[in-house]
Amino acid sequence: MSQRIAILGAGPSGLAQLRAFDAARRAGVDVPEVVCFEKQSDLGGMWNYTWRTGLDQHGEPVHASMYRYLWSNGPKECLEFADYSFEEHFGRPIASYPPRPVLRDYIMGRIERSGLRDQIRFNTAVHSVEYSEETGRFTVTVRELVEDRMVSEEFDWVVVATGHFSTPNAPNFEGLSQFPGRVLHAHDFRDACEFAGKDLLLIGSSYSAEDIGTQCYKYGAKSVTFSYRSAPMGYDWPEAFSEKPLLLRVEGNTAHFADGSSRDVDAIILCTGYQHHFPFLPDELTLRTSNRLYPQGLYKGVFWIDNPKLVYLGMQDQYYTFNMFDAQAWLARDVIIGRTALPAREEMLADSEAWFARENATTSADEDIDFQAAYVRDLVDRSDYPDFAIEEMAAMFKEWMHDKELGILDYRNKSYRSTITGTQAPPHHTPWMEAMDDSLEAFLRVPEAKCPETAAVKAPAQASRPAEGPARAAAKAERRPEAVAG
Ligand SMILES: Cc1cc2nc3c(=O)[nH]c(=O)nc-3n(C[C@H](O)[C@H](O)[C@H](O)COP(=O)(O)OP(=O)(O)OC[C@H]3O[C@@H](n4cnc5c(N)ncnc54)[C@H](O)[C@@H]3O)c2cc1C
Ligand SMILES: NC(=O)c1ccc[n+]([C@@H]2O[C@H](COP(=O)([O-])OP(=O)(O)OC[C@H]3O[C@@H](n4cnc5c(N)ncnc54)[C@H](OP(=O)(O)O)[C@@H]3O)[C@@H](O)[C@H]2O)c1
Repeated sequence: MSQRIAILGAGPSGLAQLRAFDAARRAGVDVPEVVCFEKQSDLGGMWNYTWRTGLDQHGEPVHASMYRYLWSNGPKECLEFADYSFEEHFGRPIASYPPRPVLRDYIMGRIERSGLRDQIRFNTAVHSVEYSEETGRFTVTVRELVEDRMVSEEFDWVVVATGHFSTPNAPNFEGLSQFPGRVLHAHDFRDACEFAGKDLLLIGSSYSAEDIGTQCYKYGAKSVTFSYRSAPMGYDWPEAFSEKPLLLRVEGNTAHFADGSSRDVDAIILCTGYQHHFPFLPDELTLRTSNRLYPQGLYKGVFWIDNPKLVYLGMQDQYYTFNMFDAQAWLARDVIIGRTALPAREEMLADSEAWFARENATTSADEDIDFQAAYVRDLVDRSDYPDFAIEEMAAMFKEWMHDKELGILDYRNKSYRSTITGTQAPPHHTPWMEAMDDSLEAFLRVPEAKCPETAAVKAPAQASRPAEGPARAAAKAERRPEAVAG
């Protein structure tokens, strides 16, 4: 009987796996039957926008953590697919920091052009995966959401590509239950305009805190206070921002911090990260890890060592994203089709522990970037995924971090050169702080067609820009775009 492969999730990682099998098929290789289960009604994973929070219309947890007006927080040149460039997709060079709908379009384009959509079963949530030692096969049980029925099928391999930025890590703080304003986790944040004119407290000092804080300011928040557990972000923040040590308690609307200072705030957003969460897996197959570059228990960051027929994609903390998922998927495919053999368990364990220890020894962000570059290099060298300039991308990531230090509100105005096509990205027609409309149409508009209302906004010196308070908030709220694709 020919092998059957289940891919769980049709986000960038699951789609990478579909694409990897398709590339082999096109090269004349006899590939197994592949079925991808996706609980949303479309592909794209995290890059789909929904207004929903909590549970969806079928009672399933809403996957989305992305929000309106989200722009890429790294240069697109660092996440470009090695087998499908931005230029190929859009037919011309585009700026380096696209908003969410543009990246979604790019992710989907590669799949649509390969005709792989019919391998995905949409509106199908995976509810359990069981492995039988007797048959050597997995039973995958899904809930078909529209029909509201449970269905089970058997597979030889299971690829878990369900993402890990969806289940909130939401610590409690004394007094939050009595806080008179809104308290939410970043997972449920949708629209910065809600916070125009408000004083905000954001707990956390990583990407969500930075991005939600700067975005709320862009759309009119009066002030943004960050509260950190380990270390402040330390950017040269404009006046409306401040960084405080950890929140100790809230009394009324007053937040008290570990340094004895306090601040009155209107809303609190927990930007405290996410949990790896796989409620459909039995204990013995479940990856348990913090958000790190090399989770333990996975050979090459992919194969579950205790049962390597279970593959995890995209479970790492991420500098590299789309192209790293591809590199993982190509290697997984080669093992599944028998082109590459896995070593003995002891060797897999030793290799995985060596990577784990190597990550533990890194002491700076630059070293973390080099670590992930070395990891991606190791993967790419093991399959026929097109070689790409991984190390040059690492240099770009370091430059990107430097750009952020120079101007946390300006860094998205910079342009990078694609290592895939060699083309230098054109500058975007509007500085990020003034680009209020994040639609694909607005982003791709040629500069001459600049719309009058955005053209009327003058570009201030970003990093030293003073807070303008409610008047700025009101003006920004007025410029709020109608709707977001997705
Ligand atoms: C707020 C935010 C902003 C980000 N911004 C960037 C950025 O600018 N650049 C960048 O490169 N990366 C960014 N990322 C990282 C982003 O997660 C990755 O780019 C990418 O989406 C990960 O792909 P994935 O396929 O592994 O997971 P996801 O994209 O999360 O896809 C997982 C898929 O699995 C499905 N699924 C989950 N559970 C089930 C189930 N039980 N049954 C069936 N299907 C299921 C989901 O519906 C989803 O479609 C961001 C992440 C967040 C949270
Ligand atoms: N525009 C964008 O592209 C964009 C926007 C947002 C997010 N993202 C992506 O989303 C992913 C997740 O980012 P993230 O920032 O949500 O998660 P994260 O990087 O895992 O960071 C979690 C943060 O929460 C803090 N934290 C955790 N538990 C805490 C507690 N009990 N008390 C106080 N602080 C606590 C951590 O502090 P410690 O440092 O002390 O651990 C850390 O600062 C990243 O891949 C990022 O790139 C992208």
